[in-house]
Amino acid sequence: MTAALPTASTSPSPGFGLGLRTAHYAAFLDAQQPVDWLEIIAENYLVPGGKPLRMLDDIRARYPMVMHGVSMSIGLVAGPDPEHLKALAALARRVRPLWISDHLCWTGVHGRQIHDLLPLPYSEEALKVVVRNLRQVQDTLGQRLLIENVSSYLEFRASSMSEWEFVNRVCEEADCLLLLDLNNIHVSSVNHGFDALDYLAAMPAHRVQQIHLAGHTDHGDHLIDTHDHPVAEPVWALYRAALKRFGNVATMIERDDRIPPLPELVAELDTARAIAAKVSPLADREAA
Ligand SMILES: [Fe+2]
Repeated sequence: MTAALPTASTSPSPGFGLGLRTAHYAAFLDAQQPVDWLEIIAENYLVPGGKPLRMLDDIRARYPMVMHGVSMSIGLVAGPDPEHLKALAALARRVRPLWISDHLCWTGVHGRQIHDLLPLPYSEEALKVVVRNLRQVQDTLGQRLLIENVSSYLEFRASSMSEWEFVNRVCEEADCLLLLDLNNIHVSSVNHGFDALDYLAAMPAHRVQQIHLAGHTDHGDHLIDTHDHPVAEPVWALYRAALKRFGNVATMIERDDRIPPLPELVAELDTARAIAAKVSPLADREAA
């Protein structure tokens, strides 16, 4: 990517965050909540003007933010939509986020968005496309993107490497950073029968900038990444293992459906803080 940027390394963790959801706008504006930063879904604020942007400005004045996208479609052969990148860049100028992330997936073809995060084949061909696209996005935005691993339910016959090898090579070859979704790793590990710890062990520690913790739905012989439940115990266990391997990493609870009152999510975030304080005691000192 851009030669002017130094070799990738993560910036210091800003602490523990939550995804900003409309149900909690008032709570975040009425009182300072015990949340170090907020993650916004970029696509909710790409239309100029209106109430969403006004609310965003007001909340941004009180909390640091990161921008999280759901429709960049980084795996698309045709490449990301230049208009979308332009709108993202404009939003970034307004929000001044700590960083920008999107998913390692595709979300539609021929200009049609299907609003789902579809997995890629883990092949050399797909790797080339993703790396080329990521370099272009990073050059356009003038900063490294965080790329997030998605959950999956099917595998491609065209895959020639494991998901973790693919993720690792994307990060190294595109010189991007990583948003590690531990729930997604757990969901896929159960669905495909691999060891989630093998996945963690293969991740480039110096590129892990953020962790997502979320809930899923257990259907017995498979898990669905629904983000509508509290974080499950196997994901907390994976979080402990991740902190041991990666040290202090910015951590967020990601709830997208059946949004509970804010205090419930703050309590879940406190569980993450307590685990981090125990597993990685330097975390609090570094964040202070
Ligand atoms: Fe996530």
